[in-house]
Amino acid sequence: MSLVTTTEMFKKAYSGGYAIGAFNVNNMEIVQGIVEAANELRSPVILQASAGARKYAQSAYLKHLVEAAIETSDIPVALHLDHGADFDVCKDCIDTGFTSVMIDASSKPFEENIKISKEVVEYAHSKGVVVEAELGTLAGVEDDVKVADDKAQYTDPDQVVEFVDKTGCDSLAIAVGTSHGAYKFKPGQNPKIRLDILDEIVERLPGFPIVLHGSSSVPQEYVKIINENGGALKDAIGIPEDQLREAAKRAVCKINIDSDLRLGMTAGIRQHLALHPDHFDPRQYLTDGRANVKAIVHHKIINVLGSDGKA
Ligand code: G3H
Ligand code: 13P
Ligand code: ZN
Repeated sequence: MSLVTTTEMFKKAYSGGYAIGAFNVNNMEIVQGIVEAANELRSPVILQASAGARKYAQSAYLKHLVEAAIETSDIPVALHLDHGADFDVCKDCIDTGFTSVMIDASSKPFEENIKISKEVVEYAHSKGVVVEAELGTLAGVEDDVKVADDKAQYTDPDQVVEFVDKTGCDSLAIAVGTSHGAYKFKPGQNPKIRLDILDEIVERLPGFPIVLHGSSSVPQEYVKIINENGGALKDAIGIPEDQLREAAKRAVCKINIDSDLRLGMTAGIRQHLALHPDHFDPRQYLTDGRANVKAIVHHKIINVLGSDGKA
C-alpha cells in the first residue's frame, strides 16, 4: 500500500465515532513499534514528524523509514508534518512526499494565523496534500517552545467558522484542556477535556474533523519503572483515557500521542539495562523499548481511539 492522505480516514472516523492515532516518530524502532501494532489490529495510522524529529533523524531517513513500514504492512498510513512553523517548512515536506502537513500559527493574532494558514493550504492543495491548522493555544512544551498555563487559551467557538472558511484547512486542531509534554498536571489536579467547548465547536462545524494535541496519558507504570531503574522523573499525570475516548466518539478524528511513547521506550531500555548490566548491544535493549512502543499503541487503538478493525 502507498502513503495516503487523511481525507478518507477522517471521513470514516467521523461517521464511525472513532479517531485515528497520530504518533510521533523519531527513529526506526518507534516506526516499527507503531506500525506493527496498527497492522495487527487492522487500524489506519498517522505517523508524524516534528521539527525536532526532522533535525534529529533528517527528513529523508524518516520518509524512507515510513516507506519501509508501508512495504511491510497493508494498512492506510499517512505521513504528517507535526507543528509546521511556517510556509517554508510545510512546502519542504509537501515537496518531499508528506501526505499531510500542519501549519501551526496558533500563537499569532487571528488574522495573521488565517493569512499564513491559507497560504499553506493553497500550496498543499495544488499538490494533493491536506492541511491541519490550529486555533487556540495549548499549554506545555513542544520543541523548545514552552507555553505557560496562564498563556494557554481555549479555542473560541465563535471564531471557528470564519477560520475554517477563510483558510480552507482540512482539519482543525483546537485547545480544549489538553497539554503538551510529560508534565501536564500535578497529581491531585483534575485534568479535564472541555467537552462542552468541543460540542459548541461541533455545532458550528458539523461534519468537520477536529484534532486533539497533547493527548498523552502519562502511564504511571512506565514512570515507576523509569524511576525505579535510575530515572528521576517528576510526579505528573496526563489526560484521562476515558475523556479522550469520549472526544473520539464525537468529532475528534485525530489524537496526537508522543510523550507516552517516549516514556514507554525509555522504561523498556532502563529496565533492560538494570536487569542485564552486562549488555551493550543496542539491539538487545532497543528490542524492549520497541516492544513497549508497540504495547502502548495496541492499548491506545483499543481503549482510546476505537480504530481497530477499521483499516
Ligand atoms: O507536540 C510536540 C511533539 O511532542 C513533538 O515533540 O518537538 O520534542 O519532537 P518534539
Ligand atoms: P503529548 O506530549 O501529550 O504526547 O502530545 C503530542 C503532540 O501533541 C504532538 O503534536
Ligand atoms: Zn502537538
